[in-house]
Amino acid sequence: MNRAMIVLALLVAVTSAGYARVGGGDIVYEVKKIGNVTFRHDAHVGKSGLPCTACHASLYVTKEKRKTATMSQMGKGASCGSCHNGKTAFSVKGSCNQCHTKEVK
Ligand code: HEC
Ligand code: HEC
Ligand code: HEC
Repeated sequence: MNRAMIVLALLVAVTSAGYARVGGGDIVYEVKKIGNVTFRHDAHVGKSGLPCTACHASLYVTKEKRKTATMSQMGKGASCGSCHNGKTAFSVKGSCNQCHTKEVK
């Protein structure tokens, strides 16, 4: 499948799920010690108004096809760091607790 087809397949999967959630919903990254990270489609697509293609499929596909990134890779622009660079959005080099939380939400 090429990228455009993957995006299309994702859209179809979401539409046919038949209940209201934005894109892929909430995605939890398990990170020990400093705390898990919840990525919210709701905040990114709804509030920030980003199109699906801002992230799919150049940065992300699905949880199963995840390419994990370290914070130092993100600091150089990988994954969340492609936007969370202190210009487009708050930087991965600070604000640790805006993403990492020990509380269960
Ligand atoms: C700001 C980035 C971003 C935008 C914009 C975005 N997504 Fe996602 N999406 C992600 C991330 C991050 C994941 C998790 C992928 C991973 O774990 O590697 C994901 C995963 C998904 C998944 C798979 C969920 C699963 O359980 O594996 C679907 C479906 C999806 N997105 C649909 C959409 C649709 C539809 C839109 C537009 C309405 C959209 N996304 C917009 C970042 C984004
Ligand atoms: C924009 C959100 C975001 C911010 C801000 C952020 N992180 Fe992360 N961090 C993540 C995500 C998402 C992962 C998991 C990535 C994966 O598995 O692909 C992660 C993984 C990690 C890990 C495990 C991987 C590694 O690099 O060793 C550590 C430790 C970590 N973060 C520490 C921090 C610290 C310390 C800060 C503040 C300086 C911070 N993070 C800021 C999103 C963020
Ligand atoms: C395509 C750009 C883009 C990517 C990629 C992206 N973000 Fe964001 N994110 C934004 C923008 C824009 C905002 C809103 C501006 C701000 O808060 O600085 C935002 C806001 C947030 C917020 C605050 C809103 C909330 O949900 O509470 C969190 C947390 C967050 N992002 C986490 C992440 C994590 C974790 C990743 C990687 C898995 C990620 N983002 C990837 C652009 C992006």
